[in-house]
Amino acid sequence: METIDVILDVDTGIDDAMAVLFAVAREEFNILAVSCVAGNASLERVGRNTREILDLAGARDIPVVLGADRPLAQDAAPAGHVHGLNGVADLELADYGDVGLGEVDPRPCNEMLREVILNNPRPVTIIELAPMTNLAHLFRDYPEVLGNVEKVWVMGGAATVGNATPVAEFNTWHDPEAADICLKAAPSLLYPLEVFYSPRVTDEDIATLRSNSSPLANLAGDLLAGIAKPYEGEPRVTTGAYRSCIGDAGLVCLMVNPELATIRRHPVRVSLHDPLTRGMTVVDQRWVDGLEVQALPMQWTEPIVEVALEIDGDAIVEIFMNTLLR
Ligand code: BDR
Repeated sequence: METIDVILDVDTGIDDAMAVLFAVAREEFNILAVSCVAGNASLERVGRNTREILDLAGARDIPVVLGADRPLAQDAAPAGHVHGLNGVADLELADYGDVGLGEVDPRPCNEMLREVILNNPRPVTIIELAPMTNLAHLFRDYPEVLGNVEKVWVMGGAATVGNATPVAEFNTWHDPEAADICLKAAPSLLYPLEVFYSPRVTDEDIATLRSNSSPLANLAGDLLAGIAKPYEGEPRVTTGAYRSCIGDAGLVCLMVNPELATIRRHPVRVSLHDPLTRGMTVVDQRWVDGLEVQALPMQWTEPIVEVALEIDGDAIVEIFMNTLLR
């Protein structure tokens, strides 16, 4: 089986926790490091949650490093109303197994990531599940790493409707300057809200995970039940029998089978200066790679970003469930 060398950048976070559990369980991913950033919860809390999730997953040898405790140009704004005060639905992770055994890497995040990327014999893929503050610092301070970065798969942005604001998605809204720097610096694939909410689960799926003999499946079930509460009334999630969605984990599932999404290349810019739209990702869907370039008003030619705007959500959930239940 072909494997890829990856770094995960996370703000764990209910759905980051599910993404990490999934990535560790899949042989396709050789996880070189996990970096933490303030976002869904404070940096300290994110570091602890991430470390504990890796402990539970039996992956305490994967280095974890702490990065930025605040965005580049504004204050941190943790999302306790979505993820619970501790970031993981107020669950006690010690209830699922032994935690607290892994140490956090003592190096500054920037230097640690630089060493990992430059010393790796193969190009490194970065999985960005959080505000892009850590990557912005890295690309700005050590642009030489870009020579050994294959691509950044980004959960972030929205082409139409946001969640943090009417038009901005949480990760790009939390640190718009960082998103701007990263999309301009590195080859990126955007997994925006249009697809983020599609891999959805039913009460039955949650019950199946909760009643499985694996504590990690039980944890995933409890995390999905935890995030179902804030999703009540979110029409992109709760239609028909659907109650919850796997969020960030959907991006990592897609990496296992990218054919499950329709991916096109579009120019993408981040709104920085207008308070009404700050953090919005403006995806120019008038321009699609492969078509002859026309002279359009407000036309940019860079950065051109791969964007997943359609996905087979049920097939993605099947990959997630089959992995955690096996
Ligand atoms: C993003 O924000 C957080 O709630 C999730 O972890 C995800 O990364 C969705 O807007």
